[in-house]
Amino acid sequence: MKVGILTGGGDCPGLNAVIRAAVRKGVFHYRDEFVGFMEGWRGVIEDKTMALDLEAVGGILPRGGTILRTSRTNPSKRPDGVERCAATLQKNGVEALIAIGGDDTLSVAQKLHESGIKVVGVPKTIDNDLAGTDYTFGFDTACNIVCEAIDRVHTTAEAHNRVMVVEVMGRDAGWIAMYSGIAGGADVILIPERPFDVDKVAESIRHRHERGLYFSIVVVAEGAKFASESGAPVVQDMGKDEFGHAKLGGIANVLAREIEKRTGYETRAVVLGHIQRGGSPTAFDRVLATRYGLAAIDMVHRSEFGCMAALRANKIISIPLKEAIAKNRTVDDEMIQIAAGLFEKTSERDLSAK
Ligand code: F6P
Repeated sequence: MKVGILTGGGDCPGLNAVIRAAVRKGVFHYRDEFVGFMEGWRGVIEDKTMALDLEAVGGILPRGGTILRTSRTNPSKRPDGVERCAATLQKNGVEALIAIGGDDTLSVAQKLHESGIKVVGVPKTIDNDLAGTDYTFGFDTACNIVCEAIDRVHTTAEAHNRVMVVEVMGRDAGWIAMYSGIAGGADVILIPERPFDVDKVAESIRHRHERGLYFSIVVVAEGAKFASESGAPVVQDMGKDEFGHAKLGGIANVLAREIEKRTGYETRAVVLGHIQRGGSPTAFDRVLATRYGLAAIDMVHRSEFGCMAALRANKIISIPLKEAIAKNRTVDDEMIQIAAGLFEKTSERDLSAK
């Protein structure tokens, strides 16, 4: 069978491990041929391809990024986008397509499935906010990068008696902030799911410093919101990508100013940005991505189209794409309560706006 592969949306470490696993099992066990479509859905619309054989995937397991490159191109934004995708796949003799991406990429995959194209999805995003799977690959690597950054910020905060505000990625869900905040021992964790009262944040920091602790670490997701700002996140500019997403970023700078103004403590902001998506994948992500790639080519040969490989209690299963893209998987109350167990039960610990 001739199988197409593409990587769409924000890149992350592990993409190459998925590609490598799918190609290796496809060649060794199914005698498949593969074609790579470049730059996400743009490569399918514009027929930009590369040969994907054992040689092409040799040595890519530990490499971050994606040999197929990626984009946020949305075929639905073009009047004949879906039709052009179908025509390109037919022209290349592609019988099935493996789409590796987040909710945006996989929502396009669902549209192609509904138009009769045989497509299988693989869940990718550092945000870990895809429904239907316990983990997306890329998330563990991002958390390790942030945890190391928080450890480094700790020593300089302590040296200067400062409050350090660390901004992490996470547009709609605060999984990176939550996991890396717990792992890094943050004193305050702010996530998009719970708009926060900045006066309560300042009060909790003051309370901590009055107990003789002279520094604090605040971890804030880029999509977190000041309760007073009618739920609008802080954006870099008014631009939007082809899926309608704003360019988030900068809440740490605003929050740092507000904390310093209220507490009088020297406060600095660190925005980790795309560092969280760079470099080599962790061992966990290499294994998870490999499992997803192996599952994807098996699903192709079981004709499980319109489905996505998913991790459920450490087993890889196949679920309908519709389930994965229906809504974002946000940080649940159980996880929030777990994190709250690390802090004293005082009134200002509930930082959400009442
Ligand atoms: O979707 C993953 C993600 O890293 C988000 O956390 C972040 O808001 C967004 O991508 C950034 O997109 P871009 O790389 O296009 O600026």
